[in-house]
Amino acid sequence: MGKHGLKIVRAKPGHETIMANYFAVNERHLKPWTPLVPRDHHSESAWRRRLEEREIEFENGVSVHFIGTDDAESHVIGSCSLSNIVRGVFQACHMGYSIAERYQGQGYMKVITSHAVKYAFKELKMHRIMADHMPSNDRSAALLKSLGFEREGYAKEYILINGKWEDHVLNSLINPHYSR
Ligand SMILES: CC(C)(COP(=O)(O)OP(=O)(O)OC[C@H]1O[C@@H](n2cnc3c(N)ncnc32)[C@H](O)[C@@H]1OP(=O)(O)O)[C@@H](O)C(=O)NCCC(=O)NCCS
Repeated sequence: MGKHGLKIVRAKPGHETIMANYFAVNERHLKPWTPLVPRDHHSESAWRRRLEEREIEFENGVSVHFIGTDDAESHVIGSCSLSNIVRGVFQACHMGYSIAERYQGQGYMKVITSHAVKYAFKELKMHRIMADHMPSNDRSAALLKSLGFEREGYAKEYILINGKWEDHVLNSLINPHYSR
């Protein structure tokens, strides 16, 4: 399933301007659902550093960060990260995602997250992907459900969101074709 005008790439050094713009334009849209960050957290220079750090994390097999962009990579449509990649007897990671307000509810997020899920299972050979959302985040719950994630639990005061420890619904998707 594709989406016209959507290109999915790994976020890399060079994307700092479009990353900073994405968070500036969508600040109010993302704020209720995302951790409170220091003032210059989303500046271009902070993003330049972060993208360099993420390259090292990618090389070390710790995280993979995807962005959906237009064909020219001139703006970010949405992002999806696979982080906390753990090997050994767990073979699992967390998935986090967001979409620009003007692309919300049009299926773009589903395409970007589906790409990440496929990558996690086929390339990283993960056994489990975990994704959590605040109980009131109905859009996030609907997205996960449509990807096949199942609710596994409820964690009280789980993540510090916007300065408050918020409860989260815990979900996961198991790789149906996992093989060692
Ligand atoms: C949560 C969030 C990522 C969901 O994104 P979204 O844009 O609603 O997701 P999508 O549109 O890809 O898919 C969700 C719905 O759109 C519908 N959809 C799919 N294709 C569509 C299309 N072509 N046209 C219209 N709607 C479509 C899907 O049916 C789906 O809804 P349903 O499964 O309940 O029917 C988004 O609201 C967001 O960024 N929120 C702020 C940040 C955030 O909460 N991040 C997650 C923290 S846990």
